[in-house]
Amino acid sequence: MTETKTPAVEVRDLWRSYKRGSETVHALADFGMLVEPGEMVGIVGRSGSGKTTLLNQVGCLDRPTSGQVIIAGTDVARLPERELAAFRRDHIGFIFQLFYLLPTLSVAENVGMPMMFARRYDRRRVVEVCERVGLADRLDELPGSLDGGDMQRVAIARALVNEPSLLLADEPTGRLERASRDEILGIFDALRADGLAIVMATHDLEQAARCDRVIELRDGRRAGGDVAAASRHSSSAIGP
Ligand SMILES: Nc1ncnc2c1ncn2[C@@H]1O[C@H](COP(=O)(O)OP(=O)(O)O)[C@@H](O)[C@H]1O
Ligand SMILES: [Mg+2]
Repeated sequence: MTETKTPAVEVRDLWRSYKRGSETVHALADFGMLVEPGEMVGIVGRSGSGKTTLLNQVGCLDRPTSGQVIIAGTDVARLPERELAAFRRDHIGFIFQLFYLLPTLSVAENVGMPMMFARRYDRRRVVEVCERVGLADRLDELPGSLDGGDMQRVAIARALVNEPSLLLADEPTGRLERASRDEILGIFDALRADGLAIVMATHDLEQAARCDRVIELRDGRRAGGDVAAASRHSSSAIGP
């Protein structure tokens, strides 16, 4: 193919600063990165280094103090609030450590929720995405009857239901046992192989090692460029 790929995410000169009393804390300082479709990038760094702040910026959950976040060619900082919400819904899937499922809704209803907000609910799509993450036979169960790994599958299916181009995951396996962790990472591998871009914050070095690239944050700044994690993608190990 000769078409030029639009990066899934491009972050330029990004700052997010907070006032803490008379002090200003730079949760992110002069941060940049480029993520291509089909790439899984790990974000590592100590607690407080800015991982969640970065994901919230890329996920359009928070606005930057300055700098640009360009997702699939759209500079999201320029979008007014209402358009930003629609953009987020259509382009970005977000997964959190604590799942955030609604306990009184079934698996299928939890997964279908983002489609309802977009006013295009389609039960077939819910079933399809549940099959994708291995939940086909749990559709009518309540989240409370699932183990942690299956709860995270529901959250992944919910994040995927509107067919985003970008999946963001903030320590997605932090609360899971080893077997569940491996299964969730296996799902991520399959999604990336299908062309989804994934940005994942993690404490887990083994998990980071499965990423195409790893970016380390230290006090909101990139520490020492990219670390090549997987040799099969070593050609993409040089970041902007
Ligand atoms: N809403 C906020 N108000 C003030 N400071 C914040 C806020 N959110 C994050 N911070 C600060 O920004 C820094 C980065 O935090 P965070 O992004 O949560 O790091 P991590 O996810 O790597 O643990 C920390 O110093 C944190 O205290
Ligand atoms: Mg965090």
